[in-house]
Amino acid sequence: MNVITTVIKSRHSVRKFKSDPVGDLVIADALECAACAPTAMNIQPWLFGVMKDKMTLSKIAELTDHGKFIAECPLCFAVFGEKKQKYYLEDCCAATENLILGLQAHGVSSCWVAGEKKPYAEAVRKLLGVPEGYTLVSLVPAGSPGEISITPKKEMKMITFSDEFKTE
Ligand SMILES: Cc1cc2nc3c(=O)[nH]c(=O)nc-3n(C[C@H](O)[C@H](O)[C@H](O)COP(=O)(O)O)c2cc1C
Repeated sequence: MNVITTVIKSRHSVRKFKSDPVGDLVIADALECAACAPTAMNIQPWLFGVMKDKMTLSKIAELTDHGKFIAECPLCFAVFGEKKQKYYLEDCCAATENLILGLQAHGVSSCWVAGEKKPYAEAVRKLLGVPEGYTLVSLVPAGSPGEISITPKKEMKMITFSDEFKTE
């Protein structure tokens, strides 16, 4: 165990937050973590939005199906991918996870809310004035954790194999 693996393992999706604001230095650090993610051919095909305005948060929440709690969070990130780039989805998913872990390292919880495969992706893009060549990949509401629930994970022996997969 080391500090980085401890941060990774301590992350849980949080959907209820305290109203305390998240500091600008934490936001900037987490965004830099997102922007450090690996990308195919180093194209970095992304755009990161940070929304704090209550009205904007409510409008985003209203558009989603499983993100209604966004209305109550202190801030929400949005990750957009440049659609013409072949690996934009993989790249932006890597950035989303880096963003989430960057926040977690500062004790700020979050939840990955789906974007790219959702019918509201286009409406969120338009709401935030993002250029047409981009599509929403993920929304990441964040804040100090209000309520944490721990989800069960599969046993390692059920999901790993060495050298060659064998059924027992
Ligand atoms: C691609 C993706 C989309 C997700 N979409 C939503 C969502 O729309 N709303 C939500 O509340 N959680 C969403 N989640 C969070 C998952 O529900 C959560 O990661 C899962 O239940 C495991 O819990 P954990 O994150 O605490 O380990 C999403 C996660 C991923 C990776």
